[in-house]
Amino acid sequence: MQSRKPLIIGDLIIEKPIVQGGMAVRISTAELAASVSESGGLGIIGASGMDAEELRVEIRKARSLTSKPIGVNIMAAVSAFNELLRVALEEKVDAVFVGAGFSREFISAAKEAGVKAIPIISSKKAAALSEKLGADALVFESGEAGGHLGTLEGTFELLSDIAESVNVPLIAAGGLINSKDIQRAFNEGASAVQLGTIFAASEESNAHPDYKNYYINANSEDIVIIESPAGLPGRALKNKFVEEVVLTGRRHEPKFIKTCIKCLKKCKRNFCILDALICAQKGYVDEGLIFCGSRVEEVKEIKSVKDIFHELGF
Ligand SMILES: Cc1cc2nc3c(=O)[nH]c(=O)nc-3n(C[C@H](O)[C@H](O)[C@H](O)COP(=O)(O)O)c2cc1C
Repeated sequence: MQSRKPLIIGDLIIEKPIVQGGMAVRISTAELAASVSESGGLGIIGASGMDAEELRVEIRKARSLTSKPIGVNIMAAVSAFNELLRVALEEKVDAVFVGAGFSREFISAAKEAGVKAIPIISSKKAAALSEKLGADALVFESGEAGGHLGTLEGTFELLSDIAESVNVPLIAAGGLINSKDIQRAFNEGASAVQLGTIFAASEESNAHPDYKNYYINANSEDIVIIESPAGLPGRALKNKFVEEVVLTGRRHEPKFIKTCIKCLKKCKRNFCILDALICAQKGYVDEGLIFCGSRVEEVKEIKSVKDIFHELGF
């Protein structure tokens, strides 16, 4: 049995120290987030790739499914960042998590609105700066995580050092998949863990069943580090799209985004990541980008959130 200490962030108390990482585009929507919160953890809606009104609808839907706390994750790299943040604050979510870039303004704006500000950092330096700016808690996300990466170093290479250097609760993320990993993260100073891949493959995840099956059938040799148009490395599964477009730089015809909507503040334009993530979520798995964490090989079954909590010892 894991340490059952709740995650306490000021007046926000999360009964079980398990955070479900926000996952875009439309992988962690209301149903997954609410199920995780109902199970005692903190469920997070991945807002990047949505517009402001869609996010509002998702937040309200999650609130209708649970009375427990709900968070929103927004990538600082998206052009709609300010509008998405405004909606999250207007809807009074319990916490806003910001990754893939840095935003000073978000911390003060969230605090002013009475919402916990939780930056996602990948270095001791960014941890110190975030704490100085008033962050209520921090996610330390290592190079073992899925999606965009701020470092390529492993969770346990940096965790204890960062944990010792901060005074706010530290949530460890990246390549944590079983109860042993979670216990080790607690032993090395984490107050909670953030898990992505395991929840992306859950019954309640909004990913298409073919996406989840891609995870189930994946081997560690299928993992590649790609160059995202957002200017960051990202961890994904090698599929037709990655081999033919992402790794070769060949032009491709987007399936859903026919005209560029400038979704990123800065885009390298090596491929349309919005289209690729939408394709994957909708089940066009050969034409999409399937982000995953380093331990995806260990996800062997699609399970309910409740069963995942149980198996993790919570
Ligand atoms: C499919 C997928 C999409 C993700 N999207 C986001 C995102 O939109 N914003 C973000 O900050 N992190 C994102 N992440 C990272 C997760 O929130 C989480 O921190 C990470 O996956 C943890 O590592 P794990 O997958 O090994 O458990 C994503 C991860 C995955 C697997």
